[in-house]
Amino acid sequence: MPESKKGDRRQFLKTGSALIAAATLPKVNLSASPLLPAFSESNPESFWKSMRLQFPLQAKPVFLNNGTMGPSPYPVIEAVKKSMDDVDQHAAYGGWESCAAKIAQFIGADEQEIALTHNVTEGINIACWGVPLKKGDEVILCSHEHAGNAIPWLQRRKLDGIVIQVIDPAPTADEFLEKLKKRISPKTKAIAFPHIPCTTGQIFPMKEICTLAREKGIFSLVDGAHGMGMIPLNLHEMGCDTYASCGHKWLLGPKGTGFIYVRKEFQAQMKATFVGAGSDKGEWNMAVNPPIQGAMQTSAHLFYSGTQNLSLYRGLEAAIDFFNTVGPDRIYARIAELGHYAQEQLLRLGSGIELLTPRESQSKAGVNGFRLIGTDAQKVYNYCADKGFKIRVVHENKLNSLRVSTHIYNSKEEVDGLIGVLKEYREKKE
Ligand SMILES: Cc1ncc(COP(=O)(O)O)c(C=O)c1O
Repeated sequence: MPESKKGDRRQFLKTGSALIAAATLPKVNLSASPLLPAFSESNPESFWKSMRLQFPLQAKPVFLNNGTMGPSPYPVIEAVKKSMDDVDQHAAYGGWESCAAKIAQFIGADEQEIALTHNVTEGINIACWGVPLKKGDEVILCSHEHAGNAIPWLQRRKLDGIVIQVIDPAPTADEFLEKLKKRISPKTKAIAFPHIPCTTGQIFPMKEICTLAREKGIFSLVDGAHGMGMIPLNLHEMGCDTYASCGHKWLLGPKGTGFIYVRKEFQAQMKATFVGAGSDKGEWNMAVNPPIQGAMQTSAHLFYSGTQNLSLYRGLEAAIDFFNTVGPDRIYARIAELGHYAQEQLLRLGSGIELLTPRESQSKAGVNGFRLIGTDAQKVYNYCADKGFKIRVVHENKLNSLRVSTHIYNSKEEVDGLIGVLKEYREKKE
């Protein structure tokens, strides 16, 4: 690494620890640090400019696709590296359970309700194959699913003969709830919506949905890919039966980390189909005939087992520490601010733009879905990519739309840059 880069790197790391010191000791005047001013209500932009230096993310291409993957800040990367060294220097084994406790605290759940996973899809599969359903039972999903929540249910339909009912999103939470009420039938046994669909970033009224489900004896199984880290979560308040999320999107944690929350009272009803060391209580014995299984865990630990990558979970813990240090509410507010800003700027493109994200959600969401009317989304995406802006095409459910998603490492200038490129594209013929 060239010397100047090493210097930059040391400075970044220094900034990282300074930031942590800043947030735990809010009264300390950080102006001594040239790169990290104390958060100032009158000049928040300078704080967010310094925040960018917590991330090794390169300036180009401009990354506006946090909905797919959240780049990690230095403290997270360092925690993973340090743990990888420890594991191999000391042959350390185990210890990942502390991550479940930390996640639980962060999302308003109990440690005994968290099973570690490696991504959202794994958690959804645990819920989908574990929920007690029989042939002919109906499950309601929406028409804006990601493959991770669509394919497991379609496969369960194929193998077990369940029936899938689909509803479209609606512009407001109230209208969506009305649609849902109309679709529920005596055969409805589960509702398996995303909390926030990947297509538009609309925030579904999950607490109301789960309350409705509970009143009618219906299971509520949430795809929470875009929940943790984008908006405040309190799963006990939400009242869902399961919630699958990950560390690698809005929490800015290591890639290949996740969890599923399984509500305490629901655990006994969930079939554990994928079990091993850790799912049991140590009573099994294969040396007798017939072999003995013995008692199994009665907590969410029933749903995960075997060797885990300790270092990645240490990184996930560091990501939660990073949030808690900066202040989760400050982060959520910035995500919302940038999301709202992006929406306002997209709307300024005028009649050529079709915004897919309802304005109601824009008080909180970090995602905006849109189309440039009369254009092919893939071609617009390619043009933006050529100009150095990485967004995402929404191929899901043949939507032919685009998505821009922003997090605390982004700036309003980056959003402006994208809008300029979209304007250019609209002015040229496809
Ligand atoms: C709404 C939604 N659900 C599920 C997934 C799958 O997530 P993972 O890749 O962590 O399994 C994604 C990924 O983008 C998503 O956006």
